[in-house]
Amino acid sequence: MKKIFAFAALAAMILACSPKSRVDALMAQMTLEEKIGQLNQLVGPELTGTEASQNVEEKIRSGAVGSILNIKGAENVRAVQKIAVEESRLGIPIVFGLDVIHGYETAFPIPLAMACSWDMEAIERASRIAAEEASVSGIAWTFTPMCDIARDPRWGRIAEGAGEDPYLGAAVAAAQVRGFQRDLSDSTCIAACVKHFALYGGAQAGRDYYTVDMSRQQMFNEYMLPYQAAVDAGALTAMSSFNEFESVPLTFHKYLLTDVLRGRYGFEGMLVTDYTAIKECIAHGAAADLKEGAIKAINAGVDMDMVDESFNKHLAEAVKEGKVSVKTIDQACRRVLELKEKLGLFDDPYRFCREEQAAELLQSDKYVSDARSVADECIVLLKNEGSVLPLKEGARIAVIGPLGDLSKEMLGCWHVMPKYHEQISVYQGLVDRFGADKVKYAFGSHVFDDQKVESKLALDKNVLRRDKSDEALLAEALSVARSSDVIVATLGELARMSGEGCSRSDITIPAPQRELLKALAKTGKPIVLVTLAGRPLVLDWEDENIPAIVTAWHLGAEAGNAVADVLSGDVNPSGRLTVSFPRSVGQIPIHYNHKNSGRPRGDYAPFQRYTSCYCDVVNAPLYHFGHGLSYSEIEYSDLELSADSLSRAQLPLKVKVKLTNKSGRDAVEVAQLYIHDRFASITRPVKELKGFQRVAVGAGQSVELEFELDKDSFSFYDYSLEKVLEAGDFEIMAGASADDRVLLKKNFRIVE
Ligand code: BGC
Repeated sequence: MKKIFAFAALAAMILACSPKSRVDALMAQMTLEEKIGQLNQLVGPELTGTEASQNVEEKIRSGAVGSILNIKGAENVRAVQKIAVEESRLGIPIVFGLDVIHGYETAFPIPLAMACSWDMEAIERASRIAAEEASVSGIAWTFTPMCDIARDPRWGRIAEGAGEDPYLGAAVAAAQVRGFQRDLSDSTCIAACVKHFALYGGAQAGRDYYTVDMSRQQMFNEYMLPYQAAVDAGALTAMSSFNEFESVPLTFHKYLLTDVLRGRYGFEGMLVTDYTAIKECIAHGAAADLKEGAIKAINAGVDMDMVDESFNKHLAEAVKEGKVSVKTIDQACRRVLELKEKLGLFDDPYRFCREEQAAELLQSDKYVSDARSVADECIVLLKNEGSVLPLKEGARIAVIGPLGDLSKEMLGCWHVMPKYHEQISVYQGLVDRFGADKVKYAFGSHVFDDQKVESKLALDKNVLRRDKSDEALLAEALSVARSSDVIVATLGELARMSGEGCSRSDITIPAPQRELLKALAKTGKPIVLVTLAGRPLVLDWEDENIPAIVTAWHLGAEAGNAVADVLSGDVNPSGRLTVSFPRSVGQIPIHYNHKNSGRPRGDYAPFQRYTSCYCDVVNAPLYHFGHGLSYSEIEYSDLELSADSLSRAQLPLKVKVKLTNKSGRDAVEVAQLYIHDRFASITRPVKELKGFQRVAVGAGQSVELEFELDKDSFSFYDYSLEKVLEAGDFEIMAGASADDRVLLKKNFRIVE
């Protein structure tokens, strides 16, 4: 009886107080052990990860649990919350977290694909829907947005971020935070998490979890903006990253976690480690044991330990030994309680357990149709020679390739909740659009040459057709191909070939599938290659030999319908790359915003000894950042600046550019604005994105766009890491991608 009233007593006490004093009042009653208990995050057994916490109920009863991740469904969350609220001494509710990365039950495209829409409203809407679904299912906290800039497509987690550009990455991160958190007084809003702080995407050699090292100038100028934007957008929590930087794992990185994140960026929320990251500092060589790890982490600025329970095991003793101060524990505990307070958990610990609403909302028709319209915008048409696309009505279509009917795999990485049977494959989407009599399918080849690795990567290894030989699969495919008018080759990666823990050293289409494509090319039939993958692929052979190439990433629930929308021409493609596609793995890291050397070589200039280039490949990527075609032809003209020169005080500079749709088909264009700071106190990139507009341009119509470049657009972090706005010469560029060949340019000067 006494226990049942624990939360009621707590509620009565805290209801009488203001939010701040509620937390004060609660903390005044807590023992040191209970405070430390709030810093402990356990993991449920069901989902991702490698560990499941033991004796969870007992720990909750003793007040040793502040948060739990990976518990599925409102009823299960309610049952666990009940133990905390009714059976622990103070009845403090638990905050339940989950990786709601690109949708909860309604699976949206992977984040990299969504970024390629350049549509911040669509990204915010996708996050909003994910929040609405998660928030009725017990989840109060998502580990999103991933703000890590990635310039190395070998790194599997490139799938989870917005790509290679800090300006665009910042806009995407802010849109995600707005979508999840919008207004916390509304119970459909959940806490966002700025992750992985920091620089996780800079892993050497594209190997996950691996060493990161770079100058602090590079860090501030080229990597940090998205994290800062997520903080500015009000993200309530942050997560430290697995990697080391300057030889210190981020879990222990006081300078970044405290001086930069809190000091410079003003983050006031709660900071959690990544999964078992404290224990991993032993393997890093940064702590001799878990106790040293716990001490270093909390003293660096970490508030909550994800999974390791190192705080529970060691901090009370560390306080007695004077290695951690009570003030530090109090501060961390306060941040956890403030998070719970802001989420309304003290008012109603079951606020996010709304079973009835869940039944009605999850995967509702409206959400699924939103997932389709967002997916439509993410598809990037890379090449379309001889107008192979759109597909002609009445044509006999052969869908060939192992990815074409593996619907689960379209979910991509981090599909924590979806109902698998409800995803649409490309084959299914084309059948629905063109009719079963017009569309035939053949598996064509195995996914991957190494069968053992292939079965580790597949979500369902029973569908991999290992009962058939390569020859038999090819024979089937060729017979389907020969009786068709056009081939849609559906090739690429299984969901688990990207995402956490899956880097690739060779990012071409895996060998058996590439062989299949070569055999299909020999039939002489027109081919549309649809790549389905979590990362940019090296498509050098394909670009030379295949007339039409579309990258359709892993697009989630409505993947197949979205691909059919674009291939049929019902939707005019509008996606634009947010990562460069290399022409050779040896060009990596490759990104448009690189520096010049003292011996620069033009993007397409042939090899010349003693200049900065390769003797076997040009410097240019195969497909540039920002690239993407449509079925229309858009011409850029009339680039105009409001002035040739301005003083700092006279900024902003206004930039105008005209877009004309020279075709008979309505289009959506993503107009991009870049600057180049030609001479500065430190060298600056050859190009930096500083503005973009996604705009409809009707058939035969023109639109005039106006951009503003303000003080911030021209500022950067200098050698002493101060943000400065230096006078000097700039190039202002506008166009359809970062490719110099399509950019209009004007000179501009900032005078003293
Ligand atoms: C990942 C994080 C994720 C966490 C919790 C880790 O392995 O790096 O991105 O949020 O697990 O699932």
